Amino acid sequence: MALLETHGLTAFYRDFQALFGVDLSLEAGETIAIVGANGAGKSTLMRSISGVLRNGADQILFEGRPIGALTAPDVMSLGIAMVPEGRKLFPSLSVEENLLIGRYGRATKGPWSLETIYRMFPVLKERRNTPGTALSGGQQQMVAIGRALMSNPRVLLCDELSLGLAPIIIRDIYAAFPAIRDSGASIVIVEQDIGQAMKVADRLYCMMEGRVTLSGRPAELSREAIHAAYFGAHA
Ligand SMILES: Nc1ncnc2c1ncn2[C@@H]1O[C@H](COP(=O)(O)OP(=O)(O)OP(=O)(O)O)[C@@H](O)[C@H]1O
Ligand SMILES: [Mg+2]
Repeated sequence: MALLETHGLTAFYRDFQALFGVDLSLEAGETIAIVGANGAGKSTLMRSISGVLRNGADQILFEGRPIGALTAPDVMSLGIAMVPEGRKLFPSLSVEENLLIGRYGRATKGPWSLETIYRMFPVLKERRNTPGTALSGGQQQMVAIGRALMSNPRVLLCDELSLGLAPIIIRDIYAAFPAIRDSGASIVIVEQDIGQAMKVADRLYCMMEGRVTLSGRPAELSREAIHAAYFGAHA
């Protein structure tokens, strides 16, 4: 049984349909990447899994249990944590206060604590009393990742970590991923950068217009097939 699965997942914003029957699976210990152009439905998929958007109960299964209709706090308490698009820190709170917020709702024992997060991102320890707004984009992203890890999640959902960051900073952020994997978390990464996605993921899903258009292991997918699945056959 997969750790996390979606079956025929649909999602709507009022009467606008954004997902049209998405099937995906995440095995325990696996890292998968979701790629696709602007508006493909990647964030909608993350919001559906994390409970920000509500879906049919049986459309999302966690260890075989239907979770599609649960609220975000209930999904989080099961051990599914999200690093949201745009980081969404609490601007008036310090780095450390933002990290500690990740604890609420799931104070589970596990590998992640202020100490281990500061070890992974030493700059956050130096800046622990600095307000979120005074941080660089890369440092904010580190806080957002740390905040999600503070709940010791079994599944970590990351929505466009690279957005707006310089290549050298993106490299620093992704350098943390082996440690996150080793901690036992399974990971879903949304990325617009296909090269980055192929480097970090065991399997890749391409989305276009609310549907999965291609999936497989990076070594099994040709550049041409990914290009067609990402931009459409006529791009
Ligand atoms: N809050 C909303 N209300 C109405 N429509 C929305 C809302 N959020 C997203 N959409 C629409 O749903 C579709 C999928 O959007 P989504 O944000 O999931 O795409 P995405 O793949 O994450 O894109 P991006 O790469 O730009 O983040 C788009 O057509 C978008 O305009
Ligand atoms: Mg998005």
